[in-house]
Amino acid sequence: MKTRKTTAPQKMKKKSAYTVAVVGATGAVGTEMLSILEERTFPVEEVRPLASSRSAGGEVSFRGDDVTVKLLTRDSFRGVDIALFSAGAGVSKEYAPVAVEAGAVVIDNSSAWRMDPQVPLVVPEVNPYDLEKHQGIVANPNCSTIQMVVVLKPIHDHAGITRVVVSTYQSVSGTGKEAMDELAEQCRQLLGFGDVTSKVYPHQIAFNCLPHIDDFVSSGYTREEMKMVNETRKILGDPSIGISATTVRVPVFVGHAESINVETKNKLSVAETRAMLSTAPGVQLYDDPSRELYPLQVHAVGTDAVFVGRIREDESIPKGLNLWVVADNLRKGAALNAVQIAEELVK
Ligand code: A2P
Repeated sequence: MKTRKTTAPQKMKKKSAYTVAVVGATGAVGTEMLSILEERTFPVEEVRPLASSRSAGGEVSFRGDDVTVKLLTRDSFRGVDIALFSAGAGVSKEYAPVAVEAGAVVIDNSSAWRMDPQVPLVVPEVNPYDLEKHQGIVANPNCSTIQMVVVLKPIHDHAGITRVVVSTYQSVSGTGKEAMDELAEQCRQLLGFGDVTSKVYPHQIAFNCLPHIDDFVSSGYTREEMKMVNETRKILGDPSIGISATTVRVPVFVGHAESINVETKNKLSVAETRAMLSTAPGVQLYDDPSRELYPLQVHAVGTDAVFVGRIREDESIPKGLNLWVVADNLRKGAALNAVQIAEELVK
């Protein structure tokens, strides 16, 4: 793993407005970053959309203006205060240090720096205090981890989590734009009784579920599963929590769902859990089986909250809960969380 050499924490200079670069501005998450900066009226003096030669020269829209996408180079960060990266781990590994060297604070959505001990891994509702020790790079956690820890944090604070077993139902937008196109194209092919072609995924994703996200490691888990294990422990600051994850790609365009089983030191009833989660930051309780109300991906799309429902006691153990957690993976799972980190930094 790549680590950064230790330097003093880097404070953001206070300004009335900031120059913000978006690396990967034409991608699924980058596009969302631009619209969330705009929506939340983040104080932007200048926005600098950056991408590869494939889309440099094109335009993206920001606050009603068409802004030209520039080619990402080592000179791209002159005068940049904040650089939001979402162009994959390779680009982040190479260019995040370049941006920091040029004086920017990097908020990186890739997995490149997340487990570096010198890099804070932050979900503002959970561990904003970790931002204080950043040295130029702040990592945005994996989308599935973010929506899980927003719900786990209040439970951990109240009852002490000892073990988590999670299965995910993750949309194709987590892979990127090409994967969204592949799902749409395969739906067209299948509904027209044609043959299916797969390029992004190793198997057909339309009308199918793939228990395979990111590469396999030697233990038989996938990297995505291990991100959920390691990132959750780092964010909650508790390496003793046992976590077991199975991550599954489902034929949904946007929105991730998770079935989470939690074992705690102290018992929590359903009523206590509902009361606690109804006031937890970033969480929206949506739990009324009598009216068939539970979180759904189609309702979460375009929203900011992490929705939780289907709260039940796990009757097979003395102190356990089952939860169903849904969020917009492009927003809270990526772009929104990154912009919230930027808001914390300039506060
Ligand atoms: P481009 O449009 O030029 O390919 P997604 O996750 O939706 O696939 O989007 C990935 C984003 O990262 C896109 O904006 C893409 O730009 C950008 N990107 C990918 N590789 C590079 C690179 N080597 N340099 C700069 N931007 C890159």
